[in-house]
Amino acid sequence: MPSEKKVALISGANRGIGFETARQLGQKGITIVVGARTQQAAKEAADKLVAENIEAYPVTLDVTKDEDRKAAAKFVAEKFGTLDILVNNAGIGGEGGLLNAHTVSTTDGELQNVFNTNLFSVVSITREFLPLLKKSPAGRVVNLSSILGSLTLQAMPGSPIAPMKSFAYNASKTALNQLTVHLADELKATNIKVNSAHPGWVKTELGTQHAQLEIVDGAKTTVDLALIGPDGPNGKFIHLGKELPW
Ligand SMILES: NC(=O)c1ccc[n+]([C@@H]2O[C@H](COP(=O)([O-])OP(=O)(O)OC[C@H]3O[C@@H](n4cnc5c(N)ncnc54)[C@H](OP(=O)(O)O)[C@@H]3O)[C@@H](O)[C@H]2O)c1
Repeated sequence: MPSEKKVALISGANRGIGFETARQLGQKGITIVVGARTQQAAKEAADKLVAENIEAYPVTLDVTKDEDRKAAAKFVAEKFGTLDILVNNAGIGGEGGLLNAHTVSTTDGELQNVFNTNLFSVVSITREFLPLLKKSPAGRVVNLSSILGSLTLQAMPGSPIAPMKSFAYNASKTALNQLTVHLADELKATNIKVNSAHPGWVKTELGTQHAQLEIVDGAKTTVDLALIGPDGPNGKFIHLGKELPW
């Protein structure tokens, strides 16, 4: 008989917001599939969760590798037969980090690298897991975006994010938001809801120690969106329960 427990797969779940999301969803009784770039990192993270009485399984998932994406989907299909929650969390910053404003000097390599991880891989992973999400009574996709991808706020003089113009990263998150809108529309007749989360400025390796939020609070938006009910948002850009402008 299939288990009543929900199953969540989180990419980049070995550290930062991804690991904390895994912990908080696990504490709510959800089975966690820990995606990480290496088997060792996935296993170490899963072991930590298991030590906290969370049901967790490691999978090797370099999001940029087709063979990893296919093997991860095969694992979930064979083990659970369904997927309830897909958290597209893995992401990278541009060269010099989130605060390093540069546009014309952005290299082709930086653009390709950042878009490969932050956009193209998300499209591919979502495509891979969609058949399993469709088997869930209430599939949820959460894309880890960023307020830095908001065109409205980037273009608004005096907005707090206006000086933060790391082009490759910001553009990749703008494009990711477009995926959220398009996919939510395409799936609107199904039980699946797709949303973009802005976690806040969070103290992680990417966010740096200058950030405002502790990781425990930085995971809240993702966890909320992973657990929304049938009346919850679809195709929205959310931070701590409030809608952000695209
Ligand atoms: N921190 C913030 O202030 C902030 C703000 C807005 C949005 N976000 C978004 O939130 C998400 C999580 O960020 P974070 O702050 O937790 O960053 P982080 O601490 O730097 O962690 C990033 C995670 O992504 C993983 N990752 C990177 N490339 C990968 C790949 N090719 N395959 C698999 N995993 C990969 C990393 O794995 P490794 O350990 O192998 O490198 C790590 O687990 C990102 O999408 C980020 O853009 C963060």
